[in-house]
Amino acid sequence: MTTRKTVIVTGASQGIGAGLVNAFIQRGYNVVATSRQVSASEAFQASDRLALVDGDIGDAETAARVARTAIDRFGSIDALVNNAGIFLAKPFVEFTMADFEKLSSTNLEGFIHLTQQVVRQMLAQKTGGSV
Ligand SMILES: NC(=O)c1ccc[n+]([C@@H]2O[C@H](COP(=O)([O-])OP(=O)(O)OC[C@H]3O[C@@H](n4cnc5c(N)ncnc54)[C@H](OP(=O)(O)O)[C@@H]3O)[C@@H](O)[C@H]2O)c1
Repeated sequence: MTTRKTVIVTGASQGIGAGLVNAFIQRGYNVVATSRQVSASEAFQASDRLALVDGDIGDAETAARVARTAIDRFGSIDALVNNAGIFLAKPFVEFTMADFEKLSSTNLEGFIHLTQQVVRQMLAQKTGGSV
């Protein structure tokens, strides 16, 4: 018997992230999809193998809820796609500190919060995993 693997996809409400959610579902994975407004997304169909978690990836509390959802609903975390990210198309000299803080929160802190949660779980599972 093959046990289903569970993957977490961040930035899942649209674009590349939504495409990954659909691809993983089609290939038989359990998926936890997260973004600020992923539950309002119309980019994928409901599935009993898909869990949606709304939240800002820069908040540590979001990472904790995402990891908890994967474990409670599907029993493991086997892969993580750190896809959430923003790009501010403005000249460097026009960057405000608020811009920089938003970039750091979303593109760096979000990666750290969730990847720590996920790797801790993978180490406890002792079955490897992919980030
Ligand atoms: N497309 C490209 O050509 C390209 C090139 C190089 C790198 N990338 C990178 O690849 C990734 C995906 O690109 P994309 O074009 O598919 O991006 P996109 O269409 O702009 O989608 C970004 C995703 O990130 C989520 N997101 C943004 N801020 C967030 C936050 N604070 N907390 C949680 N989720 C947040 C958005 O959902 P919500 O609004 O619901 O939060 C959305 O699902 C990004 O990291 C991007 O920088 C893309």
